Amino acid sequence: MSGASGHYEKRLSDLDGLYLDDAAHKALLSEKGDVVVYEVGDFRPSAVAGDMIFGLTRMVPGLVGEEFFLTRGHIHANADRPEVYYGQKGHGLMQLESPEGETRIVEIAPQTVCYVPPFWIHRSVNTGSEELVMMFAYPADSGQDYGIIERSGGMRHRVMRNGQNGWRLVDNAAYKPRARAVVDALMRAAA
Ligand SMILES: [Fe+2]
Repeated sequence: MSGASGHYEKRLSDLDGLYLDDAAHKALLSEKGDVVVYEVGDFRPSAVAGDMIFGLTRMVPGLVGEEFFLTRGHIHANADRPEVYYGQKGHGLMQLESPEGETRIVEIAPQTVCYVPPFWIHRSVNTGSEELVMMFAYPADSGQDYGIIERSGGMRHRVMRNGQNGWRLVDNAAYKPRARAVVDALMRAAA
């Protein structure tokens, strides 16, 4: 993305601990090396409330064991800020989780719009066999809180391969639901 004002990439080693199968993660790392799993380029005109950050995210296809490549995922630090994704290339999904622990999945293909409502934790997953490329846009004062997922032992579900071309959700056994007080504090902070 030429002219982007920000860029970062995440490599396989950066995603250590996110996958169910630690041994498969280590094996993949030694087999393929520390490859880039996803990269994000964005335009940040300003950080002023009312302005907008937008850009492109690109994730390669792949599996760690039976689990599809994924992004780290986050909730917005100002949790009531929404986001929009627009599929450009490939096939994947947006995994959405409410603070209370409800999961929703939005499948993304070229020319699919995905709306991430305020307060929903979100992570993208490449369930296809080619790059997953999406455009995104969110309010400039959103911020990202990655810790919310770590504090609950991951997201409630994992996205695993199902047969040749499919996917399925399985429960994440390490998941710890957020206490009511934690959920209430999130909502209050945004009020
Ligand atoms: Fe976001």
